[in-house]
Amino acid sequence: MFKRLLSFLVLFASLPPIAALADDGHQLRLTIGKETRQFAQDALLARPDVKAVSVAQDIAYGKPMTFRAVPLVRLLDGLTLPPDNVLETVASDGFVAQLPLDLVVNTDPTKAVAYVAIEDPAKPWPALPNKKISAGPFYIVWLGDGAASVRSEQWPYQVVSLTTQEAPAKRWPALAVDASLPATDPVRAGQTLFVTQCMACHKLNLAGSADVGPDLNLPMNPTEYFQPAALKRYLRDPASVRHWPEQKMPSFDQAALSDREIDLIVRYLGYMASRKVK
Ligand code: HEC
Repeated sequence: MFKRLLSFLVLFASLPPIAALADDGHQLRLTIGKETRQFAQDALLARPDVKAVSVAQDIAYGKPMTFRAVPLVRLLDGLTLPPDNVLETVASDGFVAQLPLDLVVNTDPTKAVAYVAIEDPAKPWPALPNKKISAGPFYIVWLGDGAASVRSEQWPYQVVSLTTQEAPAKRWPALAVDASLPATDPVRAGQTLFVTQCMACHKLNLAGSADVGPDLNLPMNPTEYFQPAALKRYLRDPASVRHWPEQKMPSFDQAALSDREIDLIVRYLGYMASRKVK
């Protein structure tokens, strides 16, 4: 009896825990307000609204690509989106994008329309440039005439979950600029760009969801230790300032951030150096 109990315990202990099974990366978790839905990769691929889509300027692959994809808005059917929220996407490598809900729910093809591309295990996608892994199993791509206007960091790949969250400025008051700053002040434009393009990997003033790169205000702000020209050059092409094999900071080309936009981000960073949280 004791022996049987023992072998039963051994068998039980060797099975993977339930939580690990539900979290194996081939399920896409969607949480809208208090409601959570799980989408399995094979179930998504079998949906009648999945179709082949061609992305002329794919951001992750840097070339035209074709995917099996479903309109993201279809996965939200029957759910009520909380007002003043964003859709936060978390990827398996820790990358966290904040997608504005008006972009997410748009279905007008003259603007940008969000799709969830699903990798078919029977026909795996190629590896990403300079990476050993593909963008799968789930990758957010944009179609429609306005696709090119969607920022480079709003094309998250290897997505594990999509969750509505309060808009960043409200969720993280430590990102805020002084209320007296005019609406047209360039620092405010810099803040918006920073949230979209930089907070996918960085925190600032401890605010943010990502930990891929360092906090950009604490303990020191890069504007306090980079020469201004070197900092701008670093954002354009980090490897031109310093380089090592494990470097992860992406380069932002002119299409991703114009010179003016890099200037705006650096202005916001410089402004925040005097607003460190205690
Ligand atoms: C995909 C993730 C990612 C994104 C997006 C990203 N960074 Fe980084 N960044 C990193 C990582 C990781 C590092 C640490 C160095 C490395 O591994 O390359 C870094 C380093 C830096 C540094 C150097 C800090 C130091 O002291 O060495 C600065 C400055 C910086 N990032 C600014 C930015 C700004 C500004 C943006 C937005 C325009 C941005 N980063 C977007 C990942 C990212």
